Amino acid sequence: MAIKTRYREIQDGFVLQKDELYKKLWDLEPHLAANGTPITWNKAVDFSVFDDHGNKWIDMTSGIFVANAGHANPFIIEAIKKQLDANLLFSYTYPTDIRQKFLSKLLELSPPHFNKALLLNSGSEVMGAAYKLVKLWAKKQHRRYIITFRGSYHGQGLGNDFICGSPEKGDWSGVKDSDVIFLDFPYRANDRFDPKSLRLPSGDQIPADQIAGFFLETFQGWGAWFYPQQYIDSLYAFAKNSGALVCFDEMQAGFYRLGPLYGYMTYGDLQPDIICLGKGITSSLPLSAVLSRAEIIDDKEADLHGTHSGNPLCCAAGLANIEFLSDPNFIAERQRTMNIFQAGLEGLIRFPLVKMVNVRGMIAGLIFHDTDAATRVVMKCIGNGVLPVCTFKHSIKLAPPLTIDAHALYEAIDVVSEAIRSVAIEDETK
Ligand SMILES: Cc1ncc(COP(=O)(O)O)c(C=O)c1O
Repeated sequence: MAIKTRYREIQDGFVLQKDELYKKLWDLEPHLAANGTPITWNKAVDFSVFDDHGNKWIDMTSGIFVANAGHANPFIIEAIKKQLDANLLFSYTYPTDIRQKFLSKLLELSPPHFNKALLLNSGSEVMGAAYKLVKLWAKKQHRRYIITFRGSYHGQGLGNDFICGSPEKGDWSGVKDSDVIFLDFPYRANDRFDPKSLRLPSGDQIPADQIAGFFLETFQGWGAWFYPQQYIDSLYAFAKNSGALVCFDEMQAGFYRLGPLYGYMTYGDLQPDIICLGKGITSSLPLSAVLSRAEIIDDKEADLHGTHSGNPLCCAAGLANIEFLSDPNFIAERQRTMNIFQAGLEGLIRFPLVKMVNVRGMIAGLIFHDTDAATRVVMKCIGNGVLPVCTFKHSIKLAPPLTIDAHALYEAIDVVSEAIRSVAIEDETK
């Protein structure tokens, strides 16, 4: 049956399947690059995604945590157009006015202990750069070990594969960084950080003064899992006391997604040594940044720069984006919708199918008992005009643009709730 509301439109007989365009791309690209939910994007405006078959979804993905300021935000479009009209679309690493303006604004908004930013293009690049910076810093400090978490994701690339997922992730390469040590992620609220758990595969304790740094996703991506507060407090205190660096991967958490500018700030008054930013930094074009202190980031041996890093159009988009998102009126408005989001999503724990609801700011991870139920909920949402993040694990994620209208948000939460109810009924009648 057709659906038509102010915010959603689904044509009668809609079936989620690969259309002609999708099939053409399927032939041209590695299949791994193809999205598992085959919707062909024709247009994305604010919190709506449109295909070219007359369907319209409420976007609860922000296009994978990018469009924090909304898709095709007019303020950002205007800034990009202005840059286009200035006939400066590319500048390599030569100084440009827009690069200086963007960097100044980014550092002015950020806590003052960050005094330098390195610009690159993607999240993977900045995470790879951070790995390199920590390794080089370790060499100078005669330290050795990097501590990271199982189940984390820090992007694509060999350095990235060394520091995320599992110790086996980089095995394809035949090369190993045996100085990277994985801890189990603290999924339970009463999990505590125990320095005694910092051990080599041999079982030997790692001396505190041998630890170079900790890599943390601000929340673990696949289910929006946050570290228990006591865990992060003691990990942070331990790192600071032992002189190890703390690096947060803010790819999904940054740019007001969790409320404050950076997501790590929701854990209290922390001063991480390095943060890695991307995705929501422009709400649109590719740009990423490592923020740190000069003594860490100004390492000649790191040799970190790129042909396209700090591209003028991306810097123009980035500047407009952070000006838009940091506007005090917008911050007040956003707080209201975040409250609706949190209350609405927390309420979904009433369904026995839902094992856990992880929610903070405008990100939520619904944890289901199994992958099949989670994936069916996603498919039902899509059939009803709401687009969630399908993780193909036993979770779904919801993270609308921060510009979402309160009525649209209520409507989207109702659709998710109805989808869960309907999957539960199907299961009962099996
Ligand atoms: C936490 C985290 N780190 C790094 C990355 C890699 O970013 P990109 O896809 O821009 O390379 C992602 C991407 O999803 C991410 O979620």
